[in-house]
Amino acid sequence: MTQTTNSASNDDLFVASGSASVQRCASCHVTIAELDAAPACPTCGGLLEIIHAPPTDAHGQLLRGDLLKSQFATNCCARPLGSPSGVWRFQSLVMPNAGLSIVSHPEGNTPLLTRMAIDKFAGVVGLQIKHEGHNPTGSFKDRGMTAGVTQAVRIGASAVACASTGNTSAALASYAAHAGIPGLVFVPAGQIALGKLAQTLGYGARTLMVRGDFDACLRLVQDASRELGIYLLNSINPWRVEGQKTIVLELLQQMGWDVPDFLVLPAGNLGNTAAFGKALREALALGLIDRAPRLVAVQAAGAAPFAKGFADHFAHRYTVTADTIATAIRIGDPASWDRAVRAIRETNGMVLSCTDDEILDAKIAIDAAGVGCEPASAASVAGVKKLVASGTIQPHHRVVAVLTGHVLKDPGILVDVHQRADFAKANRPIEIDNDVRAVAKILAGAARA
Ligand code: F0G
Repeated sequence: MTQTTNSASNDDLFVASGSASVQRCASCHVTIAELDAAPACPTCGGLLEIIHAPPTDAHGQLLRGDLLKSQFATNCCARPLGSPSGVWRFQSLVMPNAGLSIVSHPEGNTPLLTRMAIDKFAGVVGLQIKHEGHNPTGSFKDRGMTAGVTQAVRIGASAVACASTGNTSAALASYAAHAGIPGLVFVPAGQIALGKLAQTLGYGARTLMVRGDFDACLRLVQDASRELGIYLLNSINPWRVEGQKTIVLELLQQMGWDVPDFLVLPAGNLGNTAAFGKALREALALGLIDRAPRLVAVQAAGAAPFAKGFADHFAHRYTVTADTIATAIRIGDPASWDRAVRAIRETNGMVLSCTDDEILDAKIAIDAAGVGCEPASAASVAGVKKLVASGTIQPHHRVVAVLTGHVLKDPGILVDVHQRADFAKANRPIEIDNDVRAVAKILAGAARA
């Protein structure tokens, strides 16, 4: 049974020191206990967010600024005291009371890269690439899922479920298997990337191919979780957001807490945009940083309701019928709209859209640099290029672009591009005779090129 109380104000970023974390409705501010399994506010149906007590040391001493940074640094990979996970070393800001329930692969600890070839493409010197495709199942979803499945263990969930365009389903299936909890995924029939389907089946989740798009899958899984008591693990789950905050915390830590000017990410259901906003809000309040980067959410032009909303100063909430090659962000009715609006407003951020051709051009450049990413991820670099062209990003600006997923997602697009007769840089596979002279001929051609 759900017990609710009214919290003092929406501006409280933390509960009283020493208290347990709570879940608070972002709309009506009612709070419920941290172990309540409700998928949404029991009073008004609004989205829940997690509010923690401020971090302390072992003696209950409040930790801020440099002291907190040094706690994170000590936690970092320093076994046996620290955590090998790039999520759980920030545990005091993710799920302080997880105790022994933590379900971790580990995850995170993803690299921050620079490549001159990508700089040249985007028009930025020293563009920092935060590559979340290096997570265990190949996307940033592992960071939210380690927190979400840990919470499922804490509340004794009988099963966990999500709707997905691919990455969330693979992450849920993997972490549910790790925890020994049955997993159920709802994917749009015929629209899920083969590799992601393979992972999901392999990790043993029940896979339901729904005749409908992602937005239909999300509505169905919400109904199922309400009526059947399955624990919902889409990014509307507030613990998923807590885990995903660590993308920002980890990249700030990697940059020595020296804040970039722009932080650019692809946006679909807007869970990540919301998570980035919450991470920055808390980092500011705890003195980890003294200013926020401008958050830039980039959508695909064929799935850009949030960019449309930004253009009219978020006067309306839009939905569209989504259509883009970037399957991960083929979403027309984003669930985390309100909290993402807050993230963009608080950081003086922006929302843009890029065409499929612009996204594909960025992907080809990222792949050719030897870095590689899935099509949706390339939207961030396409967005950077666009902001450079418009003069918003200038040569002195320091920019981080997040690549959210691995190059092996949606590989068909890339193979098609490289077979296209009209693509000048096409890297076609060449069939040869089983003869070393044939290899020599190709080598001589490559040397001349
Ligand atoms: N990039 C990738 C690789 C994704 O998989 C997703 C979302 C996004 C960006 C967008 O993030 O929804 O938080 O704005 N993929 C979900 C899925 C929908 O089912 O895997 P968002």
